[in-house]
Amino acid sequence: MQKSSIVIAGGGSTYTPGIILMLLEHLDRFPLRKIKFYDNDEERQKIVADACEIIIKKQCPEIEFIATTDPETAFTDVDFVMAHIRVGKYKMRELDEKIPMKYGVVGQETCGPGGIAYGMRSIAGVIELIDYMEKYSPDAWLLNYSNPAAIVAEATRRLRPNSKILNICDMPISIENNMVEILGYEKRSDIVTSYYGLNHFGWWNDVRCAKTGKDLMPQLREYVRENGYLVQSDIEEAKQHGDNSWNETYRMAKDIYVVDPETLPNTYLKYYLLSDTVVEHTDPEYTRANQVMDTREKEVFEACLAIKEKDDFEGNELMMDEHASYIVDLATALKFNTYARMLLIVENNGIIENFDPTAMVEVPCLVTANGPEPLSVGKIPRFQKGLMEEQVAVEKLVVDAWEEGSYQKLWQAISLSKTVPSITVAKKILDDLYEVNKEYWPELK
Ligand code: NAD
Ligand code: G6P
Ligand code: MN
Repeated sequence: MQKSSIVIAGGGSTYTPGIILMLLEHLDRFPLRKIKFYDNDEERQKIVADACEIIIKKQCPEIEFIATTDPETAFTDVDFVMAHIRVGKYKMRELDEKIPMKYGVVGQETCGPGGIAYGMRSIAGVIELIDYMEKYSPDAWLLNYSNPAAIVAEATRRLRPNSKILNICDMPISIENNMVEILGYEKRSDIVTSYYGLNHFGWWNDVRCAKTGKDLMPQLREYVRENGYLVQSDIEEAKQHGDNSWNETYRMAKDIYVVDPETLPNTYLKYYLLSDTVVEHTDPEYTRANQVMDTREKEVFEACLAIKEKDDFEGNELMMDEHASYIVDLATALKFNTYARMLLIVENNGIIENFDPTAMVEVPCLVTANGPEPLSVGKIPRFQKGLMEEQVAVEKLVVDAWEEGSYQKLWQAISLSKTVPSITVAKKILDDLYEVNKEYWPELK
């Protein structure tokens, strides 16, 4: 089987070690000859890279490994760029979350004003990765999961329309793993799902047994009505979406489910449909960014330093991100033309019949060596359509604002977000966000 060369952009990410362990676990179907790390923070990346080098040497010494901050070294001779950068790092995520909360508005990484601020930072970062890839490895694919994926996807659709970039999210995958557990099946391929929406803003409208075609929605509805998506393994096992905060989010799916019992919602809809409850339950002085810095970030970096210190990897220091094997599924499908069915963020173009053809929507696709072939969704109900029209306008206005350097468009974007009560509050939040984002956003006039 032909071996691939990959670069992980955002080598210093908290997710990198888990992804390396997962890639090493799947070499039989996605063989690798080279793994490179690229980051613009040398010091941060080095801690992760030193540990990963020890792991790779131990588990698969024939794979060549390099960590670099030099774009030419990083992007030359690669088949795939796997990108998870966070422009502004956790310091800026904390501000994205805390500034809206000052005004009683949801403060979240990808939703509402915080997500908009993050979008204004991420666009240039991801465009830069595309340009490096096209300069040094023009045939490669960029698999992007850097957030906010919805805004990044709209920006790359407009600014790099012919580039080989695919945007993907792990939230539906994680929820589908829970559906499998709820249904008593073993693995995700035991079910076939239909889903539509925008990124972090969508619904399942069909779940079937892969073997028999049996409709599994009635059984799922009954469970979700009582428990949301929370399952036993969330409480018992250490896994990515398994801490108390995620458990609460999974449980809360029951409170958003009730407004449309026909479909099953993405957990992220809580920020839009239950904004008041979310704000009430958030400590404005200690938000999710603080939790992540005090747990995942601290634990991953301590584990990496310990591996480096003893110059050995025993196998239990870091958590393997098995759920992230969707990244391997995607790369394998592109490399070996597998026609795997996956949810991707693609241009609508009539896939959702009664929705803006230029919107970037998250829908099932068959993934071939030539890219994704989206599957038709048909017409969607008025409730979802209404919500999506509003949200897609927010995302498009953010990209307008970024392209035009327009204060007015960004004010409109924040005002239009369902999480924000008025243009007055929107303006206050915008002014505070702009003040701290001067280094990252284009100048606004
Ligand atoms: P992190 O801060 O630990 O890692 C991000 C890394 O990116 C840092 O090492 C940083 O130095 C680097 N970086 C920042 N700007 C860069 C640039 N312009 N060029 C190169 N490197 C740059 O963050 P994390 O919590 O591990 O998350 C990483 C990213 O993955 C975030 O964007 C997060 O939102 C995203 N994510 C997405 C999904 C999904 O469903 N799509 C799932 C999980 C995480
Ligand atoms: C899910 C989403 C990602 C998001 C992450 C945040 O995985 O799909 O897009 O980045 O959650 O998780 P955290 O634990 O950092 O709050
Ligand atoms: Mn996501």
